[in-house]
Amino acid sequence: MRFDIITIFPEMFATVFSGGVVRKAVEKGLIRVNVHNLRDFTTDKHRQVDDRPFGGDEGMVMKPEPIFAAVESLRGGSDDPAFLLSPQGRRFDHRLARELARHPRIILICGRYEGVDERVSRFLAAEELSIGDYVLTGGEPAAVVVVDAVSRFIPGVVGKEGSVAQDSFSRGILDFPHYTRPREFRGMKAPQVLFSGDHGKISAWRRKKALEKTSLMRPDLMEGADLSPEDKRLLEQTTAPGKERKSS
Ligand code: ADE
Repeated sequence: MRFDIITIFPEMFATVFSGGVVRKAVEKGLIRVNVHNLRDFTTDKHRQVDDRPFGGDEGMVMKPEPIFAAVESLRGGSDDPAFLLSPQGRRFDHRLARELARHPRIILICGRYEGVDERVSRFLAAEELSIGDYVLTGGEPAAVVVVDAVSRFIPGVVGKEGSVAQDSFSRGILDFPHYTRPREFRGMKAPQVLFSGDHGKISAWRRKKALEKTSLMRPDLMEGADLSPEDKRLLEQTTAPGKERKSS
């Protein structure tokens, strides 16, 4: 899969993809991330990418021409979708990340300043995407989030096959808690059940903890969760959720 990012700050991406899972995926040839400087698609002497808003207001608005030129040049006649990153967009989530991973290529347009000329979202971009209900100084950090989250759905990018399917949200609820050595740390013990060797018991415990954590942290997810009769039974056993005591 290929990601094309259009930005006025290409240097912001210089190190962010140069480590970790994304870098390995690039090295393995599973993904490509190309960053394009929007100013390279301007035609004027000053390489101007923004202008004052019609109707008057504070701040500057990103001009449509360089953005259209950049996307059209990258598409080269293909119908690869382009997405404008903005706080006004559709909320980017697990499901959308999985959906986007089906495209051979996506183009990400990073907005800046007070906004982007509306003709970009109306006539050029497939959709506007927001990574959350807060305003970033620009779409660049959001583009990094999209590349990272979408890449995880490309087969081979995440090491162990099972781990994406087990992630938080994959099964509609949050992930279960994880523990590793030492078995006891400053008096805080890893749960006894994990040493029982009984895989059925361990799975039931993990499912119960995932359900408890989801009810506590994200009750909104519980409403849409597909709960089995066994899940309902596990939830009924749950005591008031809270911080685990050191000895539990
Ligand atoms: N640009 C500014 N804020 C943003 C957000 N929340 N998501 C995506 N792009 C943005």
